[in-house]
Amino acid sequence: MGKKVTRIGVSIPENLLKRFDELISKRGYSSRSEGIRDAIRTYLLEYEWIDQEIGERVGVITVTYDHSLRGLTDIILDIQHTHSNLISATMHVHLGKTCMEVILVKGAVEKIRNVVDRLMALRGVKHVKLITTLTEEDI
Ligand code: NI
Repeated sequence: MGKKVTRIGVSIPENLLKRFDELISKRGYSSRSEGIRDAIRTYLLEYEWIDQEIGERVGVITVTYDHSLRGLTDIILDIQHTHSNLISATMHVHLGKTCMEVILVKGAVEKIRNVVDRLMALRGVKHVKLITTLTEEDI
């Protein structure tokens, strides 16, 4: 018996969908649906682990966001000030209309997760990526 399948409607910026279609076509997907299912699986693999982890980690969060969106830079800075005990350093790179913030974090993984979740939820934030490794005591 097949798995139950649900149809969903999703609003996606035209250029994002165009890039996605081009990529999945190059990679040989039979349909857009299959590409989207695979993208969701990859997303789940990338982020599900973080809900299961406990303990200390060191890591890097990269955030790219739309610089022209009023107030967003302030909100991102506020989040960092709120978690100043977690954040060792930040680096800001201007990329035209987009800015990239590289945030070095060290501390409890649930606190790092909280910062990542807050950043991801912000309108105007394009991409948040977290890479962590164990702290010296754990290696
Ligand atoms: Ni900038």
